[in-house]
Amino acid sequence: RRVVVLISGSGSNLQALLDAQEHDELGGDIIAVISNKADAYGLERAREAGVIAEVVDPARFRHFHDERDRDLYDAELIRIIDHHQPDLVVLAGFMRILSKAFVLRYHGRLLNIHPSLLPEYRGLHTHQRALEEGATLHGASVHFVTEELDGGPIVVQAAVPVEADDDESTLAERVLTREHLIYPMTVRWFLDGRLQLADKGPTLDGHPL
Ligand code: GRF
Repeated sequence: RRVVVLISGSGSNLQALLDAQEHDELGGDIIAVISNKADAYGLERAREAGVIAEVVDPARFRHFHDERDRDLYDAELIRIIDHHQPDLVVLAGFMRILSKAFVLRYHGRLLNIHPSLLPEYRGLHTHQRALEEGATLHGASVHFVTEELDGGPIVVQAAVPVEADDDESTLAERVLTREHLIYPMTVRWFLDGRLQLADKGPTLDGHPL
């Protein structure tokens, strides 16, 4: 079973997935890691583990300066991902909104991890917002990706307490340690065939797109 991981930054979740693979606990192989940022540290982690690391730079696709640029970028991303013939595409801190075409293409085989107890705190700055609102419970969610941003069906959540003296970084750290447990676990469930998105996705005249 083949996995492609998309990242933009540090790649600590990627590392957790690589470590699980190393210990034969992932249920498959990470074939490639793709980043939209050339300086993402996660690319180093991939290379260190002997995994193909590729960059798709959005600057190459700034032609129209509107949503069409996203479609062009995502088309290139799809081309590169499909070259690796993945069973599963894993978003691990990939900080770009994906086009409808992309999300439909990988319907039912696209997972994301989001640093909040969804549906609370969709979007950015989740830890800061949880602190500002005085939340006492926070966490992370793994979910299937659908067209709705951070809105697809939730598979697993991990909750952590918010401590009185937390700041953004202590809270983020506590959540991250849980992310590193639940993401490899969920990926394994999927690769073992124990996890399926029931919704078969949009159809055209009754046929899958
Ligand atoms: C994590 O907090 C994840 O929930 C979010 O982006 C962050 C990625 O961190 N989607 P890392 O690059 O895996 O260290």
